[in-house]
Amino acid sequence: MNETYLIDTHSHINMIEEISIDEILKNAEESNVRQIIVPSAYPSDIDVVYNLAQQHKNIFCYLGVHPTEVKDWDDSLIEKIKDYAKSQKVVGIGEIGLDYYWDKSFNDLQKEIFIKQIKLANELNLPINIHDREAHKETFDILKQHNKGSKVIMHCFSGSSEFAKECIKEGWYVALGGVVTFKNAKKMKEVAEEIPLEYLLLETDAPYLTPVPFRGKENQPAYVKFVAVEIANLRKISVEEIMHTTTENAKFLFPALKNF
Ligand code: NI
Repeated sequence: MNETYLIDTHSHINMIEEISIDEILKNAEESNVRQIIVPSAYPSDIDVVYNLAQQHKNIFCYLGVHPTEVKDWDDSLIEKIKDYAKSQKVVGIGEIGLDYYWDKSFNDLQKEIFIKQIKLANELNLPINIHDREAHKETFDILKQHNKGSKVIMHCFSGSSEFAKECIKEGWYVALGGVVTFKNAKKMKEVAEEIPLEYLLLETDAPYLTPVPFRGKENQPAYVKFVAVEIANLRKISVEEIMHTTTENAKFLFPALKNF
């Protein structure tokens, strides 16, 4: 086992306010977090995260519009994303999906834009980084029906271990973050214990969902190590094995990571 470093596969480092990008990268390096993938959420993020990825060797990005922001979608974004995706630093389409937690008044628009972005990922042959909040069944059904060949990552997985198994049956990946360290997160600990390691990815979703012992502070990529340690403890295996396997999984899903 020689590849014992970590990859934070979903981290909004552009939204971290307490520390600078240089500090974020320095802290990550000190915690052996060598690569970070930054998703866009708002249309206005697309330039921001693309530029971050261009400027820093260890930063990559997913491009797309988050379900809560689809009212700001514009079809011209499709051409823009296609153009940016010529760069190896663009490793997926995300974060995209459905969010029925905050506001149910535009579910149909969420679905329409979700499907458009799935088609874009298929055309570009890029993986899809999925946001699914309180919309498990519809997210699942839309992906089954519309996704033609893109690899799927269920970011910040929040379903049951049964739902995780259904996703894995489809060949989709499950990404876990800080929630798994929360004392009362029984369901997530169960998912972490039971899912096959070859379908597991690690992430922070920084600046949100900060793991124990830093809850209450802003999250950052360096803290993905606490997620790895918690999952290793739950599964009674070494943290090196979790690091190695999840890093190999990420490199398989996002082959460009191997080139930097
Ligand atoms: Ni996110």
